[in-house]
Amino acid sequence: MNAVNQSSALAREAGVGAIAVDAVSIALGQGADRFEAVQKLNLDIPSGQFVCLLGPSGCGKSTLLGAIAGHIRATQGSVTLDGEPIKGPHPDRGLVFQHHTLFPWKKIIDNVAFGLKMKGVGKAERRRRALELVKLVGLGGFENRYPAQLSGGMQQRVEIARVLINHPRVLLMDEPFGALDALTRNMMQELLLDVWEKIRTTVVFVTHDIDEALFLADRVIVMTHRPGRLLADIPIDFPRPRHRELLTAPEFVAIKRQCLHLLHGEHAQFKQPDPLERLSPLGPSLITETQIHLSQ
Ligand SMILES: Nc1ncnc2c1ncn2[C@@H]1O[C@H](COP(=O)(O)OP(=O)(O)OP(=O)(O)O)[C@@H](O)[C@H]1O
Ligand SMILES: [Mg+2]
Repeated sequence: MNAVNQSSALAREAGVGAIAVDAVSIALGQGADRFEAVQKLNLDIPSGQFVCLLGPSGCGKSTLLGAIAGHIRATQGSVTLDGEPIKGPHPDRGLVFQHHTLFPWKKIIDNVAFGLKMKGVGKAERRRRALELVKLVGLGGFENRYPAQLSGGMQQRVEIARVLINHPRVLLMDEPFGALDALTRNMMQELLLDVWEKIRTTVVFVTHDIDEALFLADRVIVMTHRPGRLLADIPIDFPRPRHRELLTAPEFVAIKRQCLHLLHGEHAQFKQPDPLERLSPLGPSLITETQIHLSQ
């Protein structure tokens, strides 16, 4: 059985990757600046579901993703994966950001194989499995290049392969295509769906882009403005595989309009300027107090 099939068997047969967010509140900041970024949020994600989190900037999407990743602690409530409380980061929960985290000095194949190297897998085996994933993300023939020799979209493909090699139970993606041009972004969405059809791991995907959310997801969660709460839970039942024509289908446009209303209503209610920096799912520790101070 190859690496991809092993992974899909893992996800399907064992039914792993179920996330339960139970009455979670997350407070950030210190002293008088302390505030709730996420408030009493409940969200059950079954194994293998593709969920998009949609919401206005600053509503706590990255914070919530960070809590599922294990980089940020819930102040109240619990986050569990397959019934086990999430206590910290683990390769079981692969995280992909807007900007890749590849080692610039390592070839693509070695970047992808790195997770296996950490697990002590032998060189020949890890190269074999890495090559399968490189091919899965459409980069066969580029395995001996360095990250700087690839386009932004190709780098993000490597990033996805780098995370998938760990057979994650969940794939957490924070605006992973946000820095790409529109055409590349569309191609990446199709590639991701193609990969996901084969792997079927649970995906939690954060985006600002309604089209992206509706095109990708089984279910779209719309969050309120800060403190982030659940505003709407919308099932997206369009058949798969999905093609771009879907974006102009009347059913698609109808749900898009519904999402626009929800988000527009949220913006209309929001009067206060947002004084703080955007958060990475790695948690607030990456943002220095100086940066927070400067942006106020
Ligand atoms: N280091 C920090 N300390 C305290 N609060 C922070 C910190 N970083 C971000 N915040 C605030 O926490 C709230 C939630 O931020 P978060 O980054 O989770 O929102 P988001 O929905 O991901 O926004 P965006 O769509 O802009 O990425 C925001 O109001 C933000 O200003
Ligand atoms: Mg964010």
